[in-house]
Amino acid sequence: MTQCIEKVLFSEEEIAEKVKEIGAQISKDYAGKNPLIISVLRGSFVFMADLVRAITVPCEVDFLSVSSYGSGTVSSGEVKIVKDFENSVADRHVIVVEDILDSGRTLSYLMNTLRTRGVASLSLCTFLDKPDRRVVPVEVDYCGFQVPDEFIVGYGLDYDQRFRNLPFVGILKPEVYGG
Ligand code: PRP
Repeated sequence: MTQCIEKVLFSEEEIAEKVKEIGAQISKDYAGKNPLIISVLRGSFVFMADLVRAITVPCEVDFLSVSSYGSGTVSSGEVKIVKDFENSVADRHVIVVEDILDSGRTLSYLMNTLRTRGVASLSLCTFLDKPDRRVVPVEVDYCGFQVPDEFIVGYGLDYDQRFRNLPFVGILKPEVYGG
């Protein structure tokens, strides 16, 4: 797998340090609020697992799945909730956890949908942000790293379902995806 990587952007150690920082900030901001932390599958599962263990206040977790990209590399712009969460979000302090914010279409749709469900508060925590690709504005409350407009994989992010298990974040060699 590593031979398909052009450049490592963030090492395991750098990621661990950043996740610890975000966890500490969330713990401070949500003390006594028992936040409901919602992971948007599938990409965010690695970040989610590390993040909740860096949060030191009581919290609950849930998962939902949306479809946007299919197996291609360009967003279709269509967003659909494929698996909804198990618990009601009414009156809850909700934190949405994502692996990457790209065009903003998915998160814009999702945050707007959640706002209609009577949450007590809503914030967004994204591990990566690719601001050059933004089409729809999205407000971010917690962000790990900004990344360039390259094909990024690892730490949950895939190319055609592969590379999610890389423990670091890297740029995929263009020949892998025919770029
Ligand atoms: C990624 C990411 C976001 C979305 C962001 O998911 O997890 O959900 O794309 O892109 P946008 O800002 O352009 O909407 P993807 O569809 O690749 O699915 P995955 O999480 O299962 O890999």
